[in-house]
Amino acid sequence: MINPFSEIFGCSSLLSVGFLDPDYILIIAVLTVGSIITGGYPIITSSSIEFSMNRIFIFVIFFLCPVILAFEVTTVCILVSSLLRNKESGTAFWRYLISGITATAILRTGSILIPGLLQNFPQQLSIVLAIPVVILSDIVLNLSFSRKCTSPVTDRIGRELTSYIVILPLTLITIILLIQAELLGALLAVSAITGFSFIGRSIVKKYRINQFRIREIIHQNILAARLMESFTFSEFLATLEEYFSKSEECSIRILSRSSGSADWILWSLNGQRNVTPSEITGNIPCKGRISSNIKVREITATVVGLSDNSDLLLLLSGLNENVIRRMPSNLLDNLTLLLKHTWEAVGHSMRSEKSFLAAAVMLARLADSKDDYTHGHSMRVSNLSCALGRELRLSRKNIQILRVGAILHDIGKLAIPIPILTKRGLLTRKEREIIQDHPVEGAKIVSELSGYEEVTKIIRSHHERLDGNGYPDGLQNIDIPFLARIVAVADTFDAITSARSYHSIADRDNAIETIKEGKGIQFDSRIVDALEKVVLSESAHQA
Ligand SMILES: [Fe+2]
Repeated sequence: MINPFSEIFGCSSLLSVGFLDPDYILIIAVLTVGSIITGGYPIITSSSIEFSMNRIFIFVIFFLCPVILAFEVTTVCILVSSLLRNKESGTAFWRYLISGITATAILRTGSILIPGLLQNFPQQLSIVLAIPVVILSDIVLNLSFSRKCTSPVTDRIGRELTSYIVILPLTLITIILLIQAELLGALLAVSAITGFSFIGRSIVKKYRINQFRIREIIHQNILAARLMESFTFSEFLATLEEYFSKSEECSIRILSRSSGSADWILWSLNGQRNVTPSEITGNIPCKGRISSNIKVREITATVVGLSDNSDLLLLLSGLNENVIRRMPSNLLDNLTLLLKHTWEAVGHSMRSEKSFLAAAVMLARLADSKDDYTHGHSMRVSNLSCALGRELRLSRKNIQILRVGAILHDIGKLAIPIPILTKRGLLTRKEREIIQDHPVEGAKIVSELSGYEEVTKIIRSHHERLDGNGYPDGLQNIDIPFLARIVAVADTFDAITSARSYHSIADRDNAIETIKEGKGIQFDSRIVDALEKVVLSESAHQA
């Protein structure tokens, strides 16, 4: 007959499996000891034990039982409290309650019914046979309670079996003891298996948690790097959406408020719009906190606070709230911190870039205005260069460099005296040298700015030729920066198609034909091909 105490402790031990957090290791240890002790409780009444020392030992254990019982009650209270506070723990609670009852029922059936049916069937062996059934029922219950889990069923079964494999050596030792021992010893062994399984699974779970944390930290670092590369807030949000939508469809918005302002700005992929406080319903969370079902205008979202003073919020719509709620607190803290800082850094860099571009455009206009024939030249070259960059599948970062470099490519003309720049007749050698010095002068101006090294290269090399007959450095082929080669093509195209002091207006086809003559000699062949495509598609668009 199975000791009811053993069953109670076996059940509560099984309950604790659902809480295999490293913090619960002490509880599991207590439960294991409890199971072993109560498994030994009936031995004190057994006449089969003849050694008096054993009797004394068991008596001591027996008197310790109330203390163990107190631990058990405390443990169950903790578990129930977890159930009330946390949905996830609640699921685990029910899973292991059922698992515990099933295990106990199987042990009871195995030990009483099977030997009854098969007269010579050893009772201990029935318990051994019951063990795989217990493991199987646990796996089935685990799978049925984690249906929402996205990983394949085979993976989950594999993980479950792995956790049992960890305890396999201990189980084998226990089975050997089981076969050789009396029924009460077998009970003790079964209790031990339960305890060992908890410890084994706890180790596996701890290992998995650590692996998950390391993986998430790597993902978050990659996310931060990608966010920092955003040129617009829409790009920022698109990158973030991609990060959160690993498993589900989700739309991301940011709600921000500048200090001292009552109104909010709602940032989405489609742009930004103002939101008044009355249009927001629900409690606005502070840093690292999560609020459910906040309504901003017509949008319902789960909201994560990103700043201490609650003026920067992350709005998640269409995402299972548990994805964010289940995130360990240190990972959530890390995520909120990196989102706040990257958002502010991207905003700051966008504002700086905007101011710089405005200043660059102003300077380029000033340079263009020195010669009536080059009015608007720099902006046209910039637009065409960017179109070529897109055709050549350049990264957004390179296109941005190209934009700025092309705007400023002729800025060195500011250093050329107007009479030389606007001279209509033949230039003297000295005058030509002065004009040909404008890339160097332009590069000097921009080289003072840190972070614009690539732009400086474009300005300096936009008059180089593949055959080395360009200026100022006579660079050849791949020695000429690729972005400068693009600007060279765009610059020449605009020079031919615009009214310049030394050219008449030519139509686009003629300009392309002229440039094609320099293919592979003056200009990069790939860029000339791209120019043809861009101009043809533009012509088709206009027609
Ligand atoms: Fe130039």
